[in-house]
Amino acid sequence: MRLFAFKRTPLTMRPGIMRMACAALALGLMLGFGAVAPASAQQTTADEAALLQQLKGAPVAGRVSIPDAKSGVLIQPQGREWRQTLEGPVKSAGGWLLVITVVALAAFMAIRGRIKIDSGPSGRTIERFSGIERFAHWLTAICFIILGLSGLNLSFGRTLLLPAIGPEAFTGLTSFGKLAHNFLSFPFVLGVLLMAVLWIRHNIFNAIDMEWFRQGGGLLQKGVHPPAGKFNGGQKIIFWAVVLGAAALAVSGYMLMFPFYVTDIAGMQMAQLVHAIAGIVMVAIILAHIYIGSVGMEGAFDAMGSGQVDMNWAKEHHSLWVKENQARVGGDD
Ligand code: HEM
Repeated sequence: MRLFAFKRTPLTMRPGIMRMACAALALGLMLGFGAVAPASAQQTTADEAALLQQLKGAPVAGRVSIPDAKSGVLIQPQGREWRQTLEGPVKSAGGWLLVITVVALAAFMAIRGRIKIDSGPSGRTIERFSGIERFAHWLTAICFIILGLSGLNLSFGRTLLLPAIGPEAFTGLTSFGKLAHNFLSFPFVLGVLLMAVLWIRHNIFNAIDMEWFRQGGGLLQKGVHPPAGKFNGGQKIIFWAVVLGAAALAVSGYMLMFPFYVTDIAGMQMAQLVHAIAGIVMVAIILAHIYIGSVGMEGAFDAMGSGQVDMNWAKEHHSLWVKENQARVGGDD
């Protein structure tokens, strides 16, 4: 903790946040360097380099007597470039994206603090999400968290976890994680489809969202509450990121799970690249979502917990939705 000069700044008032930021930075350095290490370990020898030079990027292929014609390809030099891209820049950019997200959230929390209900809790509640909506959300969320952790372990586990827990524990954990990763993809896709069907009509962008964005969603200043319907502009971005991100993950993921059914080796490499990039971007987005849906905003978690939110919270964050709701069910103000 004595590593950083800003230890003596006023932020030390929040040592928990500083500890999180330092840990995230240290993690980033490990992720960044760790991502490059395997690539350098796979450097070609001088003989290999000479052979590849002679091949001029062309694969070494022959004929095989079995129906699987692609097994006749002995060397595919382009595979090395793909592996180096994945193990080098993609992994290290992904690692840094996660670190920057955690540091940015910690900084936001330090500066803005927990977003309170400005007018205080009213004690009266309004139903925000029905049972089926909460079921779809938590099905997706629980699957995503396990998919995300097991996916991150596949990418960064050898660098971060293996030295910490040893080969035996790491092998067990990774085999279990891989199984979980494959099987939980199905309920995850189901959960996202359900959320898409239930919420798509509330997530079409409109002029109200533009005003919401113009006012920074009221997230940056106390007492600012731009009007919003059931979902505000920021939530609509999360919704579409989840739906489109899950689609990219599902298509590329099932291509990896059932290899060579729909594509050749170049398509498989592309699928892995898309899967890695979409996965890490989604984890970064969902980290921000989890923050604002739990510790970041007073009263938000209840929406997905009990399904009931405080009336003052609802009026401050979703005023148009409260009005629509009251017009429909005939409630008071
Ligand atoms: C511990 C994890 C999570 C927590 C605490 C959490 C919390 C919440 C809360 C409180 C809401 C309702 C916000 C409101 O009433 O306006 C919500 C909505 C939503 N959640 Fe989550 N969530 C979590 C994980 C996830 C994951 C993993 C996904 C998708 C992969 C997800 C996708 C969504 C979507 C699409 C919405 C609707 C749009 C929005 O409110 O942003 N959530 N979540």
